[in-house]
Amino acid sequence: MARDRTLWEQAFEQFPQAIVIVDREATVLALNPQAERITGWSRSAAVGRPAADLLEVRTETGVNLCAPNGALRRALRLGTSVNTHFAYLFRLRTSDDPVRVSYSVSPLRSLGRPSGALITIHDVTPELETIEARDALMLATSHELKTPLTTLRGLSELLLDFDLTEGQRRELLQDLHGQADRMERLVGDILDVSRIDSGRVSVELTRVEVEPVVLRVCEEVRGMLKGHQLRPRIEAGVPAVWGDTRKLHQILVNLVTNAVKYSPPRTVITVTARGDGSSVRFEIADHGVGIRKEHMPRLFEKFYRADDPVVRRTAGTGLGLYIVRQLVTMLGGQIQVRSRAGKGTVFTVTLPRAEATPARVAVGSR
Ligand SMILES: Nc1ncnc2c1ncn2[C@@H]1O[C@H](COP(=O)(O)OP(=O)(O)O)[C@@H](O)[C@H]1O
Ligand SMILES: [Mg+2]
Repeated sequence: MARDRTLWEQAFEQFPQAIVIVDREATVLALNPQAERITGWSRSAAVGRPAADLLEVRTETGVNLCAPNGALRRALRLGTSVNTHFAYLFRLRTSDDPVRVSYSVSPLRSLGRPSGALITIHDVTPELETIEARDALMLATSHELKTPLTTLRGLSELLLDFDLTEGQRRELLQDLHGQADRMERLVGDILDVSRIDSGRVSVELTRVEVEPVVLRVCEEVRGMLKGHQLRPRIEAGVPAVWGDTRKLHQILVNLVTNAVKYSPPRTVITVTARGDGSSVRFEIADHGVGIRKEHMPRLFEKFYRADDPVVRRTAGTGLGLYIVRQLVTMLGGQIQVRSRAGKGTVFTVTLPRAEATPARVAVGSR
């Protein structure tokens, strides 16, 4: 019996949600540490008080759990249980901001007669944050897609409604093509972001030779260059990284593309790869518009683009660096940026080198 009792006590103490037990008069009989934490009331101060003193929990319509017409009184009077998915818990003791919670009230019976009620309260802040982030992405996405769509519509109307010379027609079609490209990139980036945010991106960790990836990236962006000199500088015998070829490729393409987009024609862009202790260090350096200090803290946020005129004139989604940073983190690496406005920018990515990773760990982390 004594052992059972300690087991129940432990369950009550360690239950991950707040629990408050009240008697038939709604007087507090017990509360667990989670309830102490969320209400700001200590057990010794709370026990023996009316529940309304420590709990002000309001639903969206403003009805208070402990009010005379509230869920608690109903449970005690009629024996009905109540579940609410969303409510605010006001912290009467600490006057901190209200916490977003869900709660349930279950009537308790002893020998067939109502004897009190059990109130459980669950802090739903993390769940709501996930939902809000998804809504924000949805909203931003619709907004971002609207601009190229409006342009597409305008261009196609021009093409349909006017007698145009072959040259004019070609020019409009070229614009149209550009907008379609932009939408395609946007949709691709958004899909990547949504896969990353929902944890649906898997990493295939293997030994990756650096040189072929860097050279391929340089080859692929060559078509974008406007007289820029793109210089791969790969250290002889650069160690292989412990990574994922496609992800490394995606990281470098994004950073090199940015370097091209945000630096004037005929300037030099270097892509360096060299061993550095237990990592391999990649540096993408340009002599472009640079990034002003005030933009630095927000560069890696979704949809963030600096309000620099050069940036605004260049097509982009503001998702690239967010994706890059998530990928770098997935590969166990780090990314840093140094920049001087008007002078240029250096992005540095460090990834663990393959040799530094013991084979045993290598197999285990697949
Ligand atoms: N090499 C760079 N030089 C100057 N600014 C850069 C560079 N790379 C990124 N930025 C800034 O960071 C912002 C976010 O980059 P990114 O997420 O790749 O979005 P996008 O390139 O689609 O605008 C850019 O809009 C730009 O303001
Ligand atoms: Mg970009």
